[in-house]
Amino acid sequence: MAQTDKPHTLWLGRWGFFFAATGSAVGLGNIWKFPYMTGENGGGAFVLIYLVCILLVGIPLMMTEIMMGRRGRSNPIDAVRKVAIEGGASPLWRIVGMMSMLSGFLILTFYAVIAGWSFEYVLTMASGQLSGASPELVGQTFGQFLESPGRLLIWDTLIVVITMTIVGLGVQGGVERNVGWMMPGMVVLLIAMVIYAGNSGGFIDGLTFLFAFDFSKITPTGILSALGHAFFTLSLAAGAIIAYGAYLPQDKSIVKTTLTVAFADTAIALLAGMAIFPIVFANGLETGSGPGLLFVTLPTAFAQMPFGSLFGTIFFVMLVLAALTSSISMVEASMAMVTERFGWSRPKAAVILGLLVWLMSLGTIVSFNIGADWKLFGRTIFENIDYLTANLLMPLGGLLMAILAAWILPRKITANELNMGNTYTIWLWVLRLVTPTCIVLIFAQQLGLIQFS
Ligand code: PHE
Repeated sequence: MAQTDKPHTLWLGRWGFFFAATGSAVGLGNIWKFPYMTGENGGGAFVLIYLVCILLVGIPLMMTEIMMGRRGRSNPIDAVRKVAIEGGASPLWRIVGMMSMLSGFLILTFYAVIAGWSFEYVLTMASGQLSGASPELVGQTFGQFLESPGRLLIWDTLIVVITMTIVGLGVQGGVERNVGWMMPGMVVLLIAMVIYAGNSGGFIDGLTFLFAFDFSKITPTGILSALGHAFFTLSLAAGAIIAYGAYLPQDKSIVKTTLTVAFADTAIALLAGMAIFPIVFANGLETGSGPGLLFVTLPTAFAQMPFGSLFGTIFFVMLVLAALTSSISMVEASMAMVTERFGWSRPKAAVILGLLVWLMSLGTIVSFNIGADWKLFGRTIFENIDYLTANLLMPLGGLLMAILAAWILPRKITANELNMGNTYTIWLWVLRLVTPTCIVLIFAQQLGLIQFS
């Protein structure tokens, strides 16, 4: 195709890729999911296993995705196709790119809804309506919110519109420009939260919970959740990193870039834990409340604390920023695909893809209220999309990607693009053996082929 010869868009600034990729990685996964998973799985030992998973599965795969994007310099489907052809493999490998792109798009259809909850909570906190409220009242407030499709829809729509406007403005003028302030802004707010938590009286308890390794609390299921989460939190197998990698200048080191992004993502997840758990402990609340940790437990704590409304507001603004820099990245793969393949302008693509995401997000909205009983395979629409992406498409996409890069492509292509000297062998063998083994294990467990009690 002629497009191969066109000069391709690149990140403008030195930190363009770093902010975009870190913004993508840092999201609801770090601030909402990681703390509640840690809470459910007993704390420090889970954190340690998660770190090992980032090292053995996350980092090698992230390097691979950036490499694919940059070598192919196109949307994920064509990037993987071109690299496969260059390496003498079947062009059908593009299916891996297609699966990733589809995952990212599908995740956005529910991510926008949950990001919308955070928006609602900015207002709930700022209005002070929960100040002094009892735990029951805080719980009821969240329950009533989920039961009202109209309110969920307003916030979901707003998230979709903001996301698509930014993406529609282009890679440099939209994505790079906006993540360039949202990402650092989010970090500043998070640090303010950690300082506030540091003065709550529960800091030592919170830190002990996060960092004390009690291996008796760890279960095989916990190990596998840590592994699955390593994927999600680094935005792997969702098109995002391949798409962003396509804009990475040739002179940047893929290894160094990956290590910085993975380090930043992990540091932020731990900081989120350090902002949340001390507040929870200081108010005598439970850490194991699951998905409600952020929307019920934490607001209950804020309701009782000095300056609770102010810091509650700061917390949820931070969450909205973190979610937006991720939602932007989920749709970039599809944007690149339709603009490159169909020749659409970015604004046109943004409107059409935005409408599609929005329509599909209605399925997630009703899953919490009128459609709570509409079940397929025993799951609501939201649960099905979550299951399809997290349990099937992502692990499968990651597995195929590892096989393609480490077993099929000739070493001269990967070694040349990664340009990492002696450490190349480590990348190769981890990706050949360790990564696939880990993924096959998650996969088998999620499909119920192996069972742990
Ligand atoms: N990494 C993001 C988070 O932790 C989620 C994400 C998944 C972003 C897939 C892009 C693609 O919230």
